[in-house]
Amino acid sequence: MAKDKDKKYRSSDWYNSKSHRRDTFVHRGWMRNQGHPNHLFDGRPVIGICNTWSELTPCNGHFREIAESVRRGVYEAGGFPLEFPVFSASESNLRPTAMLFRNLASMDVEEAIRGNPMDGVVLLMGCDKTTPSLLMGAASVDLPTIGVSGGPMLNGHHRGEILGSGTGVWKLDADLNAGVITEEDFVEAEISMSRSKGNCMTMGTASTMGSMVESLGMSLPGNAAIPAVDARRYALAYMSGKRIVEMVKENLVMSKIVTKKSFENAIKVNGAIGGSTNAVIHLAAIAGRMEIDLSLDDWEKCGKEIPTMVNLQPSGKYLMEDFYYAGGVPVVIKRLLEKGLLSKDALTVNGKTINENNIDAKCWNDDVIKTYEDPLTKDGGIKILRGNIAPNGAILKPSAASPHLMQHTGRAVVFESVEEFHTKIHDPNLDVDENCILVLKNCGPKGYPGMAEVGNMILPQKVLKKGVRDMIRISDARMSGTAFGTVILHTAPEAAVKGPLAAVQNGDEISVDVKNGKMELLVSSETIEKRLKEYNPVLPEVTGGYQKLYVDHVMQADKGADLDFLVGRRGSVVKRHSH
Ligand code: FES
Repeated sequence: MAKDKDKKYRSSDWYNSKSHRRDTFVHRGWMRNQGHPNHLFDGRPVIGICNTWSELTPCNGHFREIAESVRRGVYEAGGFPLEFPVFSASESNLRPTAMLFRNLASMDVEEAIRGNPMDGVVLLMGCDKTTPSLLMGAASVDLPTIGVSGGPMLNGHHRGEILGSGTGVWKLDADLNAGVITEEDFVEAEISMSRSKGNCMTMGTASTMGSMVESLGMSLPGNAAIPAVDARRYALAYMSGKRIVEMVKENLVMSKIVTKKSFENAIKVNGAIGGSTNAVIHLAAIAGRMEIDLSLDDWEKCGKEIPTMVNLQPSGKYLMEDFYYAGGVPVVIKRLLEKGLLSKDALTVNGKTINENNIDAKCWNDDVIKTYEDPLTKDGGIKILRGNIAPNGAILKPSAASPHLMQHTGRAVVFESVEEFHTKIHDPNLDVDENCILVLKNCGPKGYPGMAEVGNMILPQKVLKKGVRDMIRISDARMSGTAFGTVILHTAPEAAVKGPLAAVQNGDEISVDVKNGKMELLVSSETIEKRLKEYNPVLPEVTGGYQKLYVDHVMQADKGADLDFLVGRRGSVVKRHSH
């Protein structure tokens, strides 16, 4: 057994202390009831496997199997793996919205890592919010950390066509509302869509965040796209288990890998993959934990010259399975590297640079991963809009929007709450046509705790029946990464804190100019000021518990909607302990 003076890793404070024999007895002794042999307590690296497995998070339902592969890799490298569960925020089940619990889960992750005897941690993440919550929590502790994503589901297939998670649902829902398909058709499509383990297989938030993990350098190359059921997913998990033990020995902590440069790389990759708007909020929150200054201006700056090359739904045609077979994120990174658009010396978890990992990647299908010169959309990235409605910014994803609406002035049709929206949107007497702009208020971080994914408002039935499938929609909400349309989101400050979005009234004209990043309410500033003074936001009923903590402390969308007291790196030292 290692002597105190030979202690190399933090877990030895628990398991190998000669000066605190009673503590050691308790920490080590109780672990023995699981049958761990004595030599595993000899001071070797202890690796936590942070698992978001839950049967209520179907996208992560296979994570016990992935954890087994990680465990085998850790053992092979001479480490001692210990799996532990954390709060699993399920996008498809949790109400009112999984995003409400991202920060709660991140607290769980942070405290579980810091409080337990581990020297390095493997993060198992998949469904939308599980990835940022684990990265945020781990960032605040800053141990050697490696990410392993669960991988996407296989392609959905329905009546001879591929059917993508989420994206297919929005289309089918519009068709159902327009009377084009029946309820039976709708259910049959549902059954055909989710046919294997894994997360949404469109370039929604889950696959986007998997790609962000890879482009931040936080996973082994190729992590994002391998399907959940592909044997290579399990081989990658195994290799990640092996690698984390080496990372502990090298003291390669998260802050040595994730820097401002890696965030800039990730933003550029997000543009090239046509990634989810949710990445804006999540990267801001992760950066906040790492004490790295990342703002909407960085999205503006880094988004320039980045075309969307990946032809995946919701922006394009294919799905993640096709993306993997075409070469995945490494090809996208390679194509950006070749144009000199990425910081090529950004370090990754395998100890190599992003350039060394990806520059030799091969593309096997140029229709799935298009070239820089012949992209899916020239203007990729996330567009930031500012103006008198959104002094702190709002965002739009051009690759999912309609070109004819990128410069448009229209009459506002306003909904004060999502409930009002649902009551009125299909009312035949609603004064609306396709040239109007739908405005939804009080769905921001505080207004609808968690900032619901309701920004991609369904269009009024009378507009849908004309065959129209897109209108400009403005809100302080988010939208699902699988959604599409000319949808302006994350308007900050939100209406619930009397941001100027609150001042918009029915009949006002709004002008949107995406190219020039402008969004203006064509009403005098005096009128806006007067309206805001008199405005009574529709506030949620929050009586206590975590929701109260959330509403009292959540920051605005442009700051990542983290809780204000969670920002920052608090490190891995536990100052006091007792037995
Ligand atoms: Fe879990 Fe889409 S619902 S990834």
